[in-house]
Amino acid sequence: MDKTAVVKVGAAASASVCALFGGVVLAQYMFAKKKRAGKKTKIIEMMPEFEKNTVHMRDPERVEQIICGMIKGGASKLQVITDFDMTLSRFAVNGQRCPTCHNIIDNCKLVTEDCRTKLLELKNTYYPIEIDPHLTMEEKYPFMVEWYFKSHTLLVEQRLQKEKLSEVVRDSDACLREGYEPFFDRLQQHNVPVFIFSAGLGDVLEEIIHQAGVYHPNVKVVSNFMDFDENGELRGFKGELIHVFNKHDGALRNTEYFKQVKDNCNIVLLGDSLGDLNMADGVPNVENILKIGFLNDKVPPQPTLMTPPPQTLSAPITS
Ligand code: TMP
Ligand code: MG
Repeated sequence: MDKTAVVKVGAAASASVCALFGGVVLAQYMFAKKKRAGKKTKIIEMMPEFEKNTVHMRDPERVEQIICGMIKGGASKLQVITDFDMTLSRFAVNGQRCPTCHNIIDNCKLVTEDCRTKLLELKNTYYPIEIDPHLTMEEKYPFMVEWYFKSHTLLVEQRLQKEKLSEVVRDSDACLREGYEPFFDRLQQHNVPVFIFSAGLGDVLEEIIHQAGVYHPNVKVVSNFMDFDENGELRGFKGELIHVFNKHDGALRNTEYFKQVKDNCNIVLLGDSLGDLNMADGVPNVENILKIGFLNDKVPPQPTLMTPPPQTLSAPITS
């Protein structure tokens, strides 16, 4: 039976993405020690990250159960499935928004002013729909398709050059979340597969993690990859479009990958959008899954955080 739980993490949380992994290792040691001493204790109470007031758990008992299952399984049974934009990358630094993969291209010098204005207008129209807590995912779906279609059409019109992408990323304000280095490095050391499933731009994403030195062999990227012509100019996108709300059939579309990692039955899932909750749908053989959602935008002021905000990643989950 699948065990599912959700942990919500407020934007204000200095929630490093490596905390869970590091915490689990620490907790594993302490658990063994306390067990030997015959004391009963809770793992999540031993992990300082879970104690922060910006971390919300709908059902702490369930999280405890899942973490215990994961500790028991160890690294050899673990896998990570994660979103990229605003999950592995940062939402803001000192109050300034950080760019998504798309924004890195939108803001670069290869794009004309006219195109930049149009892309910004699209973002101002569709991003509020993406995060609107009053609309269902089904209602948002067609708007996302429209956004991607219009945005990608504009990018193709610019005939972007493949060879310029690394420079574009180097000159950008791309910024990975605090703790990204030990997160990627530890997962690599322990051979834990990492599946990055992004509705961003694959080529930009790969360049970001490559330049950050964390594109290790255990990392697989599935995203919207650009298709370049024989002159290295953008002429379209490869494969089926991935947008924010069609991530539920990712496992179906990547059966080969999930067959290879079929023994990694414990999943840590990271995301920031409601659509990310479904990224592990259809993954075979799941025993435990811990879903961690980063609440980035429209974060209520601290005192009211005790009441869950309307747009929470826990809403559609039944555990
Ligand atoms: P993610 O799946 O890695 O989070 O990437 C998807 C994000 O990209 C999503 O939040 C919407 C954003 N996006 C832009 O910023 N600009 C665009 O033009 C499009 C189509 C999407
Ligand atoms: Mg995202």
